[in-house]
Amino acid sequence: MKVIDLRSDTITHPTPAMRKAIFDAEVGDDVYGEDPTVNRLEEMVAEMMGKEAALFTTSGTQSNLTAVLTHTKHGDEIIVGDQAHMLWYEVGSAAALGGVIMRTVPNNSHGRISLDDINRTIRNKDIHYPETTLLCLENTHNRCGGTVLTPDYTDEVCELAHKRGLKVYLDGARIFNAVVALGIPACRLTQNVDSVALCLSKGLSAPVGSLLCGNKDFIKRARKSRKMLGGGMRQAGIVAAAGIVALETMVDRLAEDHSNAKRLADGLASIEGIKLTRDDIPTNIVMFDLSPELSAAEFFEGLETGGVKVGFRDGGPFRAVTHCMVSSSDIDEALTRIAAVCRRLHR
Ligand SMILES: Cc1ncc(COP(=O)(O)O)c(C=O)c1O
Repeated sequence: MKVIDLRSDTITHPTPAMRKAIFDAEVGDDVYGEDPTVNRLEEMVAEMMGKEAALFTTSGTQSNLTAVLTHTKHGDEIIVGDQAHMLWYEVGSAAALGGVIMRTVPNNSHGRISLDDINRTIRNKDIHYPETTLLCLENTHNRCGGTVLTPDYTDEVCELAHKRGLKVYLDGARIFNAVVALGIPACRLTQNVDSVALCLSKGLSAPVGSLLCGNKDFIKRARKSRKMLGGGMRQAGIVAAAGIVALETMVDRLAEDHSNAKRLADGLASIEGIKLTRDDIPTNIVMFDLSPELSAAEFFEGLETGGVKVGFRDGGPFRAVTHCMVSSSDIDEALTRIAAVCRRLHR
């Protein structure tokens, strides 16, 4: 039985073209700035994001922390949405290693934080207060169901934050899902943010890596922050080569993941006992709950033995993510298996 793994788009494997590029990669010592493949990837991504420079990092988590360390000083306060990946799933690193307070404001169901909340939360200068120096956005928004921030909203947030003296950082781990959903170039979504990071190893299927982008001075300082985090890599062209192929070949096909996510959501909506958390499916993430008469633990176990893996943490909701290793017929098969588990639990 083929296991249909919908836990995350991070489970995707490098494609044959990536493996070939890895084999053929020209390399050098990147800590000396001498890896031609890393340099090519950094230039390529900086241009795509409309920024002066980019820095190759090991992961989205490392990019996020590098950005925080570079934008802030010990004791500062940063504003994040209360559903932000940086808050939930990064081991409290901004506080633990950056010495910053993460002040939360609510994310609405579209992954937005309101301008009023932002304005109210930014501290005035006062001897009692830490300084608020950074605002973080996330696009697409993971815990808010792969929701997309529009360029207009992003611009408005940036305008307000900048007026109040803050920098804006965009966690764009899945920014290409937003790009494909909106049909606009990435640089339009990043035009006014001070820095942005994207991931190569999620829907784009590369084995490792993320890039942090910003102006030259920011990236120069970020390079040092990354070094402090142990992220100065040597012949990293080996992995950067796969990243270049990912950007050249895997972006447009994300549309297929989005259509599979809709197919999955439509099917789930017709299964008795399953309730989607939202009506629209903006990108590749589908979240759902169970009706109260069904046990989440039994459902989860039933799926695992039935050959379907989904994400389940902290009592729900369940999360299913589409990616290039599941086809539309896999989605149909997953729906058949999920429906069978629900029927069994209803008996
Ligand atoms: C929005 C977002 N940011 C950052 C990360 C962290 O990326 P990584 O797992 O590469 O550290 C993730 C991971 O899923 C994510 O969804």
